Amino acid sequence: MRILFLGAPGAGKGTQCKKLSSKCALLHLSSGDLLRDAVKNNTNAGVAAKEFMDKGQLVPDKVLIDLFREKLSQPDCAAKGFILDGFPRNRAQAESLDQLLSELNQSLDIVIDLTTSDSLLEERITGRRVCPNKSCNAVYHVSFSPAKKDGVCDLCGTELSHRSDDKAELVKQRLNVYHELTAPLIDFYGSKNLVVTVNGEGEQEAIFADILKALKVQV
Ligand code: AP5
Repeated sequence: MRILFLGAPGAGKGTQCKKLSSKCALLHLSSGDLLRDAVKNNTNAGVAAKEFMDKGQLVPDKVLIDLFREKLSQPDCAAKGFILDGFPRNRAQAESLDQLLSELNQSLDIVIDLTTSDSLLEERITGRRVCPNKSCNAVYHVSFSPAKKDGVCDLCGTELSHRSDDKAELVKQRLNVYHELTAPLIDFYGSKNLVVTVNGEGEQEAIFADILKALKVQV
């Protein structure tokens, strides 16, 4: 299966993609995780991305397109299938992805649009805590899905951290970018009859069940 998730910052894409990747043994390709990793390792892509991420703006298209070209060209992606989370994020990236998949003789099977009202998102984003261990990357929320031991990852015991772009003052900017540049992709993929809308509000397990239903995967 080749799946793309769309949704605003904080809609729950990462949370649901991790569950889906584990349930269906699909590769989870998160643009945000790849970029944060590049920043941490001070690669060329990371150096180019950092100033944009710190301001809640989109990183230049070329950085993302090169990153995903490299990932999607790996044999693992063709063999296992993948979930795209956070890429593409504007029309130019979506067109580049079409081109790239066509070169690889692949296409997307479905686009899940995870919807939420903007009013929920600030609380979700500012309360998020993440595991910085690259091989874990678990996501928590101080109120909605807290770690068992405060500030420590349940899965690997690493100290949890707060993303540097998860500040209240940046949330509005990130939402504006989403509405202006990313939300139009719902129509872009809608015109290809690929979009299924899933309500991203409510309990995480209920949302996951709706996603599996949309994908016609047995629970
Ligand atoms: P990225 O890391 O992709 O951030 P985002 O899209 O803003 O999405 P988030 O990670 O904030 O949200 P999410 O939907 O994954 O929510 P989560 O599951 O964690 O991008 C960061 C930056 O990188 C961008 O600003 C940009 O600069 C750059 N970038 C990335 N991709 C790019 C691209 N293609 N082009 C250019 N630049 C790019 O959930 C959020 C919180 O809510 C968590 O705490 C979670 O526990 C909680 N939660 C989840 N579900 C529920 C629920 N049902 N009920 C209650 N709480 C919930």
